[in-house]
Amino acid sequence: MAFHAVVARDTDGYKTAIEKLTDDELPKDGEVLVDVKYSSLNYKDGLAVTGRGKIVRRFPMVLGIDLAGTVVESSTSEFTKGDEVAGIAQGLGELDWGGYSQRQRVKADAIVPLPNGLTLLQSMQYGTAGFTAMLCVMALEQAGVVPGEREVIVTGASGGVGSIAVMLLAKRGHRVAASTGRAELEPYLRELGATSIVPREELAKKGGPLQSERWAGGVDTVGGAILANLYAQTAYEGAIACCGMASGHELATTVWPMILRNVSLLGVSSLRTSKPKRIETWARLASDIHPTNLASLSRIEPMSRVFELAEQILAGQVHGRVVIDVNR
Ligand SMILES: NC(=O)c1ccc[n+]([C@@H]2O[C@H](COP(=O)([O-])OP(=O)(O)OC[C@H]3O[C@@H](n4cnc5c(N)ncnc54)[C@H](OP(=O)(O)O)[C@@H]3O)[C@@H](O)[C@H]2O)c1
Repeated sequence: MAFHAVVARDTDGYKTAIEKLTDDELPKDGEVLVDVKYSSLNYKDGLAVTGRGKIVRRFPMVLGIDLAGTVVESSTSEFTKGDEVAGIAQGLGELDWGGYSQRQRVKADAIVPLPNGLTLLQSMQYGTAGFTAMLCVMALEQAGVVPGEREVIVTGASGGVGSIAVMLLAKRGHRVAASTGRAELEPYLRELGATSIVPREELAKKGGPLQSERWAGGVDTVGGAILANLYAQTAYEGAIACCGMASGHELATTVWPMILRNVSLLGVSSLRTSKPKRIETWARLASDIHPTNLASLSRIEPMSRVFELAEQILAGQVHGRVVIDVNR
């Protein structure tokens, strides 16, 4: 069967284009053939599609770090024809062919069955961004950050991870401060559940290593000086889940918040999450869902637009989540 996919090649420099492929060209080492319905747009997809980040590890590569679709064939008893599955955070579009494709053959280990109550569309409204946001929420819970009077803060709040983190934390009963560089998105963030808005520049200024206690905890998607300030402003026994570096990868700080306030910095990586943990995380995404807000923070775009959307997400011009309809 012939179908379309976004392919990266390196024969004449790094080039990406929509190409027509056939089932015979799909990877032979996957056990499950999937009729892909949706993928999504993440920051990492922006880097891969434009070639501005070294994301792809082998060529040719079908891009798209997320996919959701229906099983067509499976050589393992774990999946049967007709199962609805989602694949994220397992090297799709980096090491193995990914989701910007109408068909894909994937390793059984790369996908999980969708939990009850979650549709294919909703799974990609979440995508890697939402999955990572939930990993951050679960890390904060494990560190003992519980809803209370003091706010938790989310940085890069209007981005994909940030918007979903705001929504999930608010749904759990937290008071959520949303830090954003886009003041015009305040109504959007309040709709998702933010109780206050913190201008990005306020947190980006150089601050002392131990500042007034302000946050019960936080989800940081930007790194750099903003993370250093968040950490210095975290209250006794608080924790910050760190998952991104939209502003920078450096962290200039001291051990003071850790040793004087019991503050924890929690590293969060979605890549290589074990299968049991992925299943648990998807179950939480299904049970904590706020369908109206999830729909309102996302939009659906055709695969033919990924090239311009990739530029936009890297330029900070996308807010919320973009689902990619691979059949348009
Ligand atoms: N660890 C993991 O497994 C994992 C998984 C997914 C994503 N990530 C990382 O998390 C980050 C966010 O990913 P995403 O998909 O949510 O991207 P995104 O949708 O582009 O969101 C990033 C947000 O960061 C803020 N931002 C952009 N440039 C900034 C700058 N120079 N300084 C401060 N803030 C800036 C913007 O929010 P405002 O306009 O609201 O300020 C932007 O919307 C990326 O670094 C990504 O690589 C990591």
